[in-house]
Amino acid sequence: MNIIILGPPGAGKDTQADRLANYFNLEVISTGEVLRKETDPRISSYIDKGNLIPDDLFDEIVSKYVKDKKNIVLDGTPRSKEQLKLSYCKDPDFVILITLSKDEIIKRLKIRGRTQNRADDRSEDIINKRVKTYEDNIKSIIEYYKKLDKLIVVNGYQTRKDVFKDILGKLNLKALDKIKKVISHLKNVKGLDNIYLLDKEVKKYIFKKEDKNNRGVLECLKRRYTIVLTHNSHFRNPKGKIVVKGKKNILFPGIPFPEVNEENVVSSSPNKKIHDYLVEKFNLKLKDEATLLIGFD
Ligand code: AP5
Ligand code: MG
Repeated sequence: MNIIILGPPGAGKDTQADRLANYFNLEVISTGEVLRKETDPRISSYIDKGNLIPDDLFDEIVSKYVKDKKNIVLDGTPRSKEQLKLSYCKDPDFVILITLSKDEIIKRLKIRGRTQNRADDRSEDIINKRVKTYEDNIKSIIEYYKKLDKLIVVNGYQTRKDVFKDILGKLNLKALDKIKKVISHLKNVKGLDNIYLLDKEVKKYIFKKEDKNNRGVLECLKRRYTIVLTHNSHFRNPKGKIVVKGKKNILFPGIPFPEVNEENVVSSSPNKKIHDYLVEKFNLKLKDEATLLIGFD
């Protein structure tokens, strides 16, 4: 999962990025931190005056840190329309925007300016310039992520703990929205029925009991979301090889499931024991339908 965290100076991007990283086991890449560590004097002259680093120079430095990493919280980027084109800004899973009034920004940064040694916190003029640059650029960035339906907005004028609670609540709602969309789309596909999201306990049980050569099922369970559904004989044929020869025995790999338009989609049929377990668990009334698991992120 890749998360981008945005907001004006002092909104609490770093503070909340650290909490998110701990909670979801992600790596924080704070572009402000990365740039402050650079020894190139051009960089500090931009930062200390409260100006943005030019887009080309920015990408030259930051792309080395981000590469094509997965599972990161990118803190403080993008900051310009141009940066939206960067591979690591184009299509994150979620974008969190923390809002804060100008009075509170100045209050927080003045306090920090007294205790930490950040040159850009030292004068109110520079803080004002950072806020103005933010305001001048953020609109088109918000529009872009809104269109992708990735944006979560939280009020930064709460305790650190409450801001985080707010973020988690909204992330959950967004994830639920996504699952709802997938399920309602599948309900309209001919030949499919009985569509349910698996909870942690059910996933754990299947993982323990499924045959280890049924690789596809294990893959489905490793995805963030796993659903079970049933398909009848009118449903299309599988879109990939259902059996491959392993070194020692025959394996059943995961196969694509193009009806689900999400990331890392994989599908697979469980063994008879798991099929019976799912039938009982979800009280499925079947004639000749088979169960199928689908996993996605
Ligand atoms: P960057 O380091 O990202 O600075 P910033 O955007 O100005 O934001 P801050 O780091 O000041 O604040 P924050 O939102 O992280 O808040 P924090 O958690 O620290 O960027 C610096 C510079 O690098 C830019 O000006 C630019 O030159 C360059 N740069 C970076 N990215 C770039 C890009 N993409 N393109 C071009 N140039 C780029 O919290 C602030 C303070 O408030 C802390 O003291 C904290 O303890 C406190 N606090 C946090 N939350 C709360 C709360 N809920 N209640 C009370 N206090 C709180
Ligand atoms: Mg920061």
